[in-house]
Amino acid sequence: MNNFKYSIPTTIYFGKDQLGHLSELKESGSRVLLVYGGGSIKKSGLYDQTVKILEESGLSVTELSGVEPNPRIESVREGVKLCRENQIDMVLAVGGGSVIDCAKVVAAGACYEGDAWDLVLDGSKIKAALPVYSVLTLSATGSEMDAFAVISDMTKNEKWGTASPLVKPVMSILDPTYTYSVSRKQTAAGTADMMSHTFENYFTNVKGAALQGHLCEAVLKTCIQYGPIALNDPENYEARANLMWAGSLAINGLLNGGAEVAWCVHPMEHELSAFYDITHGEGLAILTPVWMRFVLKKDPSKTAQMAAYGRNVWGIEGDDETAAKEAIDKTAEFFFKTMGMPENLRAVGITEKTHFQEMAAKAEAGSKGSFVPLTKEDIVAIFDAAF
Ligand code: NZQ
Ligand code: ZN
Repeated sequence: MNNFKYSIPTTIYFGKDQLGHLSELKESGSRVLLVYGGGSIKKSGLYDQTVKILEESGLSVTELSGVEPNPRIESVREGVKLCRENQIDMVLAVGGGSVIDCAKVVAAGACYEGDAWDLVLDGSKIKAALPVYSVLTLSATGSEMDAFAVISDMTKNEKWGTASPLVKPVMSILDPTYTYSVSRKQTAAGTADMMSHTFENYFTNVKGAALQGHLCEAVLKTCIQYGPIALNDPENYEARANLMWAGSLAINGLLNGGAEVAWCVHPMEHELSAFYDITHGEGLAILTPVWMRFVLKKDPSKTAQMAAYGRNVWGIEGDDETAAKEAIDKTAEFFFKTMGMPENLRAVGITEKTHFQEMAAKAEAGSKGSFVPLTKEDIVAIFDAAF
């Protein structure tokens, strides 16, 4: 196990009826920028409840609404402008990962003189940020408890992740009932996303980090158990609660501290979203089994690790080679049959391969130091097989 630093300054209020804790925002000042998406929180009534609590707490509210899935740099810039014009003290995101990510870069951009895109390209330029708070409405990204934010500039077909400890939320409210209204598509995509975060951490080359591996297996089993229940019974509290907490733990440092490895499915998916604006979790589900098959073929020495995944998560028996292959088949079956997700790139509207070379060239850097490092040609082959 490697040395590591584990620090999560985010206070979590988990469960029903936690929204009153928004009164604690007073500790960061009196002027809030409320950031939200395309209207799901208005439909659910969460918007009204949030504004009421903020106003009753004596906080003045400025709004940035309409943040897109795969949030755009233009929204970030608008948020930064609002912060400056209204001397905003803190940023509150109410929504899914896109809204929280946008809020994080707005919070950093408000304390930066240049253009916020600089901060997306280089997180080390984030030297200060307004305090970030969140109310999570979609279990998926873990943005509610991590240092990351992913922002797109569609005019350049670019989507990059940035990171800074300064944008980790001060406090996040996780009420599973707020996810009851999440659609089947987004429930499946969110489950695939948290599973992918876990896979990226699980398939590591660091030896002896047994606990981290077992924690990964627990998160994966939780997703496999509760994803289908949430899909078919959206108001099942137990399912929504387990998924919500799994999503946070998958990426908050608990699973990879001491077992670090570069992620490589995510950089490939970010290229798909950057060029075709697809749903992140769907892209990951399509790529994951293809990637698993590819790495096993490229580096057969990884068979034992893939087999251990099959045994410990799926209860598969038999020799390493059989268990590894079956584990991948089970993964594909879970995404595409049980969760009803699109099976290939054509199914999400990617009908030509024009950009695969360019996308692979951009994703290649991300896979250095990954479980099985991939070349540009490898990535093109993975895109082709996923097509
Ligand atoms: O915009 P609204 O109207 O709120 O609707 C959203 C959106 O259309 C809807 N939604 C959210 N909560 C809902 C709801 N609909 C009904 N009821 C609710 N309670 O769901 C749609 C998708 O929302 P979005 O926030 O885009 O989804 P998600 O949370 O999956 O976030 C995806 C973004 O996060 C990035 C992805 O790349 C993508 O841009 N990621 C962020 C990470 C991080 N910060 O650590 C890591 C991830 O790997 C990921 O890359
Ligand atoms: Zn993800």
